[in-house]
Amino acid sequence: MVPAFPSQLVHRPTALELMDACTALLEQRLQERLEQPRPRPLGLATGRTMEPLYASLVERLRAWPAPQMQALQSNWLSFNLDEYVGLPCGDEASYRHYMNVHLGRPLGLGEAQLRLPDGVAGDSTAAAAAYGAALARSGGVGVQLLGLGSNGHVGFNEPPCKADVSCRVVQLSAATRQQNAGLFGGDPQQVPPLAITLGVAEILQAQEIHLVVTGAAKASVLQRLLHEPPSEALPASWLQQHPRVWIWADAAALG
Ligand code: GLP
Repeated sequence: MVPAFPSQLVHRPTALELMDACTALLEQRLQERLEQPRPRPLGLATGRTMEPLYASLVERLRAWPAPQMQALQSNWLSFNLDEYVGLPCGDEASYRHYMNVHLGRPLGLGEAQLRLPDGVAGDSTAAAAAYGAALARSGGVGVQLLGLGSNGHVGFNEPPCKADVSCRVVQLSAATRQQNAGLFGGDPQQVPPLAITLGVAEILQAQEIHLVVTGAAKASVLQRLLHEPPSEALPASWLQQHPRVWIWADAAALG
């Protein structure tokens, strides 16, 4: 049998058109979620790729009739992939701040509904274990959104990375600290060296996965993902083992 990866490759000429197509499907999933007695939590990502996606999603959801919007607000539970270790509470570079700005405030969601790993806990290892356990108690992720690191990371699962790793504290690579330096005054040394991330194992347990890839800077890593067999060298390649993966790419990312 010919392996079918991804389940769907959706492409659009521009990132804006891509986000519109992707959020149309996410909106549908959120509607379906309201009908489910015990919906699984959403799995959310951060990063520049997700900013226009969340803007598009917020625009769609704000057009919902008030009762449906209230149902969405009361039923919302999401688990983010990752958080830096050691950034002070409220730090503008933290993923907690990012989520408050891009989803929490615009949709009227409380911080307890938008879960992230505790990057300020005294014991990060225990905080990572607690976060993984909380996700498992909530049933595991339903719909998982993912961005793609230029080095092939998903969440902060840096290469080399096995498929069975769970939520843990990780050391960020020089490449990732460079990639994410923008929010730290452009200085990679200011990017925290450690983070807590859900592992590939938790990501693969999601019911369906949506990997969003935009921009020419991601073209070479996307080509590798589409053509290389799964390996530790490219953490995103473990997604090939999942039966329901959508890859959303704009023309620049598809090269
Ligand atoms: C970051 C985050 C990921 C994100 C990815 C892509 O380092 N840990 O959650 O999806 O890398 O980031 P960007 O969209 O900014 O390129």
